[in-house]
Amino acid sequence: MLTTSHTRILQSADLLQRFQSLDSFLCEHQTLWRPRPFVHYPHTPWETTHPQLAAWLRAQSLAHAEAAHTQPHLLAAPEPFPQLAAQAYRLSEVGELQRSPATVLPARARADVPGRKQQQIDAFARSLDFTHTPQHWLDWCAGKGHLGRLLAHSGGALTCLEYNPQLVAAGQQLSHKLGIKAVHVAQDVMAADAATQLQANHTPVALHACGELHTRLLQLASQVGCRQLAIAPCCYNRISTLTYQPLSTTAQASTLQLSIDDLGLPLSETVTAGARVRRQRDQSMARRLAFDLLQRQLRGINEYLPTPSLPSAWLGKSFTDYCKDLAALKQLPAPMAHDWQQLEQTGWQRLAEVRNLELLRGLFRRPLELWLLLDRALFLQEQGYTVRLGTFCTPQQSPRNLLLLAEYQSQLPTVSVDNSVDRF
Ligand SMILES: C[S@@+](CC[C@H](N)C(=O)[O-])C[C@H]1O[C@@H](n2cnc3c(N)ncnc32)[C@H](O)[C@@H]1O
Repeated sequence: MLTTSHTRILQSADLLQRFQSLDSFLCEHQTLWRPRPFVHYPHTPWETTHPQLAAWLRAQSLAHAEAAHTQPHLLAAPEPFPQLAAQAYRLSEVGELQRSPATVLPARARADVPGRKQQQIDAFARSLDFTHTPQHWLDWCAGKGHLGRLLAHSGGALTCLEYNPQLVAAGQQLSHKLGIKAVHVAQDVMAADAATQLQANHTPVALHACGELHTRLLQLASQVGCRQLAIAPCCYNRISTLTYQPLSTTAQASTLQLSIDDLGLPLSETVTAGARVRRQRDQSMARRLAFDLLQRQLRGINEYLPTPSLPSAWLGKSFTDYCKDLAALKQLPAPMAHDWQQLEQTGWQRLAEVRNLELLRGLFRRPLELWLLLDRALFLQEQGYTVRLGTFCTPQQSPRNLLLLAEYQSQLPTVSVDNSVDRF
């Protein structure tokens, strides 16, 4: 039995059409989603053009921001918020890919896979319905190769590529233990020799391979002529260039220029964080915002100063020591006597305001992610693939839940071998 949803997956002409609508939406409202309220003080630039909305958001509590974070389209905020939210919601709609029944694996095969990862790989595997049965799976940036093993359990050879030698060894051991014939290769997929690992008869799969790691796969797989592939991208901001380099000619023609900071926007969703992690994150952010006010005073410059990520032990320090130590780390003058309690409280107040102001930026989170996915989809289409784009798991299982399925011209009628070039 197959499950379906009411919203359609994106394919064929939808891909270009949706890309163009998203591109116009993102270009038109750049002034609203580019500035990060966290780094602006006393105001984020768009607050002067939308003072009513800004005042309303600033008056809300931290708990309000937390509750609204995943459903901003339900918020009764002043305009232009509701109108933008409705537009963003409509432009972000993507259907669920059809799922086949779950493969029942022996309990010992599941034992080594952490809970949520198991749900993700199950859902990923169930969403693959290629026209041609894969002969040889290639798990790209495989970690221990959990996804590849699940796929190979139902048939097909398996090669796992991974550059962390510990994960390669652990993966090899697990495959051996479970009687799955797999080759786990220690390979940096960004290295020049990675191309030699790909063959036309491979079906590459990549679950949550970051930024350039999965775009490299798209380029190599289409060059080699892999008949089909499936990727669920993540961490769009892990790139080695200063700005985003679009893959498709359509996105290359767009005026949208994306910085590394911009590419972090789709990742700023926290649905999967537990209560303890959220509390720690809030405390850390409130302290940073308080320190930001202090550093502006100490330097006499009203400008944000980036600070490095700090070990969690820093949250165990008193607030005063935290500020003094961070000032020393940033080689700032030592802070004089201060009303530390007041400053700490201001940090928390600022956190509530920043989080609520971020709700506006958050409206563009999914549209930007979809724009990036569609760039990948259009690139594959340009290379001759038939592409489907849909969700493969719930946002609770993973907020990075979009999956691209590509099959090389699989919907074309078969042509006689005499007048065609057989790519495979
Ligand atoms: C987010 S994890 C995903 C792992 C696996 N696909 C999964 O879903 O469990 C990304 C993996 O990519 C690996 N990786 C990072 N850079 C790499 C590179 N240049 N070449 C090969 N693997 C890499 C990491 O070690 C990590 O195991």
